[in-house]
Amino acid sequence: MKIQEITAAELDTQVFIEEKTKEISSLVGKGLAINALSGGVDSSAVTMLGHKALGDRLKTYFIDNGIMRQDEPQRIVDLFKKLGVTVEIVDAQEKFFQALKGITDPEEKREAITQTFYKDVFGQLVKKSGAKYLLQGTILTDVDETVAGIKRQHNVFEQLGIDPQVAFGYKIIEPLVQLRKDGVRKAAQALGLPESVYNRMPFPGPALSARVIGEVTPEKIKIVRQATVIVEEELSSTKAFQYMAILHQDKVTGIRDGKRDFGLQIELRCWDSIDARKAVPTALSFNTLSGLAQRMVNEVPGVVSVTYNITNKPPSTMEAI
Ligand code: XMP
Repeated sequence: MKIQEITAAELDTQVFIEEKTKEISSLVGKGLAINALSGGVDSSAVTMLGHKALGDRLKTYFIDNGIMRQDEPQRIVDLFKKLGVTVEIVDAQEKFFQALKGITDPEEKREAITQTFYKDVFGQLVKKSGAKYLLQGTILTDVDETVAGIKRQHNVFEQLGIDPQVAFGYKIIEPLVQLRKDGVRKAAQALGLPESVYNRMPFPGPALSARVIGEVTPEKIKIVRQATVIVEEELSSTKAFQYMAILHQDKVTGIRDGKRDFGLQIELRCWDSIDARKAVPTALSFNTLSGLAQRMVNEVPGVVSVTYNITNKPPSTMEAI
């Protein structure tokens, strides 16, 4: 069935919130639901909508999958505490690294993450809590790109003919599926989320593993996490849609302290975009770029080469895998 899009311009946030709250209440009835909050605008909006509809009957978890950014779990829990929402951290780091072990193909990586989230982690949480529903923040762009076969977004099932009830043992509710990112930001603001959330830069479900080319290991995640801190510090004053650091698989020859150093390559990307369907690289100044490169080689162990992607989407995509 074709999803009826609601554009950001058409969106009446009060009507939308009222309708979706009613829909969630009537679907869940007197039962329980769970949701996973990553701190991104989509899952944050769903968390607020869900709590509006269900109150304490919605249990919200932050899944610490080991592939999130620096200090992310605690930061999100503290922020939502201020908004009156209790979030429980679930330590699933082992499970994700185990599932990713030995996998180099991008789509297989995505599939491993999907299965670990939905079958393993959420499956156990549903059993433990007695919930029958999972609320999640799938948006229309996720569905489009998955159905078009561009990238298997980690959170799309029914449109691929997968019945979550059969595959995982619970039903999925997707209140944001008619919106794109700009619409979700509008709804998130109307739901009382702070600007740091409703204007937050997008971050993919497969997290930093989308930014490691080749096998994902705890060591490589540590490197890309350090590089991410630097990119985010240096580019936070730009108006770019999204920026990121990518760790390449191939090494290159460099020189350090007068000796050969066969080291790591970091690729930087910074995008201007409205809704992530198309994007162009931001025209960063050479000064900004060389400042970034300097910090990368000085602060991230093993890095000897830093490049900037200057290709449009399409044919590039925003994330590297
Ligand atoms: P691409 O790389 O497809 O990214 O041009 C477009 C936007 O989507 C984000 N992205 C994802 N988000 N699950 C998500 O929730 C995913 O699997 C995923 N892959 C990409 C990406 O960060 C960008 O904003």
